[in-house]
Amino acid sequence: MDLKTITERRRGWVKGIVLAGGLGKRLYPLTKITNKHLLPIYNKPMIYYPIETLVDAGIKEIVVVTGGNHAGEFLRLLGNGQEFGLNHLHYAYQEGEGGIADALKLAEHLVGDDKLVVILGDNIIEKSIRKQVERFKKQRQGARILLKKVSDPQRFGVAEIKNGKVVSIEEKPKKPKSDYIVTGIYMYDSKVFDIARSLKPSGRGELEITDVNNAYIKKGQLTYDFLDGWWTDSGTVDSLLKANNLVARLKGGKKK
Ligand code: G1P
Repeated sequence: MDLKTITERRRGWVKGIVLAGGLGKRLYPLTKITNKHLLPIYNKPMIYYPIETLVDAGIKEIVVVTGGNHAGEFLRLLGNGQEFGLNHLHYAYQEGEGGIADALKLAEHLVGDDKLVVILGDNIIEKSIRKQVERFKKQRQGARILLKKVSDPQRFGVAEIKNGKVVSIEEKPKKPKSDYIVTGIYMYDSKVFDIARSLKPSGRGELEITDVNNAYIKKGQLTYDFLDGWWTDSGTVDSLLKANNLVARLKGGKKK
């Protein structure tokens, strides 16, 4: 293979990051002796779903960022990632509870100049994100987020859309400016690490992914797509149950 072909191939190389840290306090005592992302969603551990979402989108190399007392279990469960069809599976360990943007920083040395697709380990979706990732690959620079209309936007990052553009994102606003929330699937160029480094902790003491996305809005480099099919997080008792029911219904065909 000549250098030009190798360079062309590398250009399409997107790395995946699954964020699976945190103490899962909202699920206590379910998370007293294990990590949230190892809990079952129907017939598989939670973390299988975000990994399969990335693999389905054509991603061959993933970094799992975890933390807490049960990090070793991820290696036992996922091994070298071959079972999922991955070429490489890396692990990174987050000390403490620094937030999503802080966890991201741990993947910097593995990502280099490549583009990345980040997915929160508790985000479960029905359909593929392949076409959105393909669009991002063609995007010269910046970020791309995936939006979903929900009935309880105040629980999430909420997008304000004007003239077909996301003009601001507010994290868990009391009075949401729309019903469109930012799902936990984010696509970034490698500039994201400079942005993450420049952030200050929020009121809850974390580096917020919403601040990262707002920084891209400021640069005029944030695009978006809508997510197809259903979407849910699974970090609370109610959303965990919801995720289980949605997946059960999907696997069981049209049965209620
Ligand atoms: C996080 C993000 C939020 C996003 C949500 C999606 O919230 O901060 O913007 O809408 O994930 O799952 P958290 O789960 O930390 O409350």
